[in-house]
Amino acid sequence: MAHVCGLGMGLGAVGRVGAGASVSVSSSHGAGRRARAGVRAPASAKSHSVTLLPGDGIGPEILSVTRDVLVEVGRTKGVEFSFTEALVGGAAIDAAGTPLPAETLEQCRGSDAVLLAAIGGYKWDSNPRELRPETGLLGLRAGLNTFANLRPAIVLPQLADASTLKREVVSGVDIMIIRELTGDVYFGEPKGIEVRDGVRWGFNNMIYSEPEVDRIARVAFDIARKRGKRVCSVDKANVLDVSQLWRDVVTDVHSEFGDVELSHMYVDNAAMQLIRNPKQFDVMVTGNIFGDILSDAASMLTGSLGMLPSASLSDSGPGVFEPVHGSAPDIAGQDLANPLAQILSAAMMCRYGLDEPGVAQVLEDAVDKVLDAGYRTGDIMEQGGNFKQVGCKAMGEAVLKAVQGTL
Ligand code: IPM
Ligand code: MG
Repeated sequence: MAHVCGLGMGLGAVGRVGAGASVSVSSSHGAGRRARAGVRAPASAKSHSVTLLPGDGIGPEILSVTRDVLVEVGRTKGVEFSFTEALVGGAAIDAAGTPLPAETLEQCRGSDAVLLAAIGGYKWDSNPRELRPETGLLGLRAGLNTFANLRPAIVLPQLADASTLKREVVSGVDIMIIRELTGDVYFGEPKGIEVRDGVRWGFNNMIYSEPEVDRIARVAFDIARKRGKRVCSVDKANVLDVSQLWRDVVTDVHSEFGDVELSHMYVDNAAMQLIRNPKQFDVMVTGNIFGDILSDAASMLTGSLGMLPSASLSDSGPGVFEPVHGSAPDIAGQDLANPLAQILSAAMMCRYGLDEPGVAQVLEDAVDKVLDAGYRTGDIMEQGGNFKQVGCKAMGEAVLKAVQGTL
């Protein structure tokens, strides 16, 4: 089966600077795929199998809205999606006794892309590690080898006042954080909690191999080429050996990308610079744990975690596309969630995973339109002005109308 998110095949438009660049990937996907419940489209339509992982908390609500929107955009653009739902996270623990059932991983592996909502909740927080929702997510990343995590932090002009930082600091911010996702202290061995001489010790191993750093550096330089041509590599080389290797390898790989400017920054400084002057950054590339932390910080520049999509790509199999935000159990089931990050994740899926930049564009434009029209969920609501506070479903309906041109 040919998959289409191959990093080696070139990544497409990323962020505003790169808008319009095309993704060059194989087009043989979708042919001869076994029939699944899906949307009827003309016989000539392209077909994509998508595994939906609703997960926990607000996950099912935002994914259901997004599915409807995808179906509609597909209908207007002559693209067929065949959806199959599978269990992951707490929902899978409850139903199948494991956060990542083998069938789920198989299902994901056999599809063209995976659209994930969110996992986790208080209910499973004190479970042993193998029975925690997060373990399912990490298993999915490892099982699909999605080593490159793209987390754009773009401040939309309509939401520049939603940030806790001053408008002049954040307006125009367009950063692409590229986080290595399958290595580092997240997966390093040995790890554990042990008693030694009567004292408990907890340990993990922060470890990177040269090929792991090499391949993520290439992704960063490739993407930078399609944007502002600047990469800032973030590490802690003043203290950590693993970071020294990181810095050396990134520098080596850079010699093949003379048209891209490379700088290095220590992670503590990077955290500070993100808040002080975020507009200095174009592409940031970093390891798994630093990327986890910095991407949350960057997300807050935009004012709402509810707006941020992400893509996790491998070099040969399906990618996983998911909002950066979590499962928000406190508002789950109340029709309060913001589905826009999920819809924008579906757009990233179409652009990077399915070679459907046209569909991606329609989705992104529709989100733009509903914001212009003043629709806001609670998390991005602003006082004054002409704003309409809506719930998850109504926001989805507004996006549907925008797609149909009737908003
Ligand atoms: C993220 C999350 C995950 C991570 C958790 C839920 C395991 O924080 O995707 O950033 O740490 O990678
Ligand atoms: Mg995180």
